[in-house]
Amino acid sequence: MKVGLKTQILPADEDAMAAAARCLSEGGLVAFPTETVYGLGADATQAPAIARLYEAKGRPSFNPLIAHVADIDAAAQIARFDTTAMRLAEAFWPGPLTLVLPKTAQCKVAELATAGLDTVAIRVPAHPVAQGILRAFGGAVVAPSANLSGHVSPTTAAHVANDLSGRIDLILDGGAVSVGVESTIVACFGEAMLLRPGGLPREAIERVLGRALQRLPEDDAVNDDAQPLAPGMLASHYAPRTPVRLGASHVAPDEALLAFGHAAPDGVHAAKAVMNLSAAGDLGEAAANLFGYLRILDAKGARAIAVMPVPHHGLGEAINDRLRRAAVGR
Ligand code: TXA
Ligand code: MG
Repeated sequence: MKVGLKTQILPADEDAMAAAARCLSEGGLVAFPTETVYGLGADATQAPAIARLYEAKGRPSFNPLIAHVADIDAAAQIARFDTTAMRLAEAFWPGPLTLVLPKTAQCKVAELATAGLDTVAIRVPAHPVAQGILRAFGGAVVAPSANLSGHVSPTTAAHVANDLSGRIDLILDGGAVSVGVESTIVACFGEAMLLRPGGLPREAIERVLGRALQRLPEDDAVNDDAQPLAPGMLASHYAPRTPVRLGASHVAPDEALLAFGHAAPDGVHAAKAVMNLSAAGDLGEAAANLFGYLRILDAKGARAIAVMPVPHHGLGEAINDRLRRAAVGR
């Protein structure tokens, strides 16, 4: 990897969005905010740019990328929507939902970005900066989270700079994101199946469908298989460097505590550091704080990060999924 690129960081105004679109057309790598997490974008049709993107992230290239487009019409150029897919797109786009769909014959997303699959993951982000870039650029932008592979996803421009400075061309700073966990991924060919819990609660999707989503077989979600259904769902995907201990009801003096709610676990006053995801017990607030707080606690030199239980409904499903992966370690 050629490190030592000059990475520009710009406030995300109209000029910066136009510059981002130009940079993408020229094969550049641009990090930008979406409502879920910051993404690292490349032109979906330029294989060399996508190769650079995988290299900048240190990402295994069998792990396919999400194509981001401005609206449903642009998505329909790339993928085939059945009735279920169209219903979900109309209900939740723009927003934190990714659909995995069969490619159309004229799909121009590079094979490298879809890892040779005949399906493609697509999402229409709601963030005004992401929308502004996509409209100025006029095509599909593939974008994984803008972190080094295996590291915690970035929710601010500073997180992106920490991981990727010198490895990418441009970062648009649009402030902290609002959702804080990645999009929910649903496969829509045959029975709709939840591949990754995320920023759109499963319950909201099931209300629109009027039925339960199929679940990914547990093995597929946890094992680091050669051919998992959701190839990116590697067990250790979201790991901080410090070991993570789940279900904590006490904290040791050499541990950092990631708290939730107002209960004070034993040892809290002696703990090395304490961050509370949401003292009020609000899952939306907890999701928005999750990755940033993990990064902060990861820097405290603690023996472990002890994590209090988080309820497993609504956004709690995505929070617990990321915490479980963080606890597997690397
Ligand atoms: O919120 C998000 O989704 C963020 C922002 C930047 O949009 N992006 C994101 O991308 O989380 P990434 O690359 O970190 O995660 C994409 C996931 C991976 O687990 C990948 O394996 C899965 O989507 N994926 C992509 N294409 C797929 C396909 N054709 N079939 C199954 N899974 C797919
Ligand atoms: Mg990621």
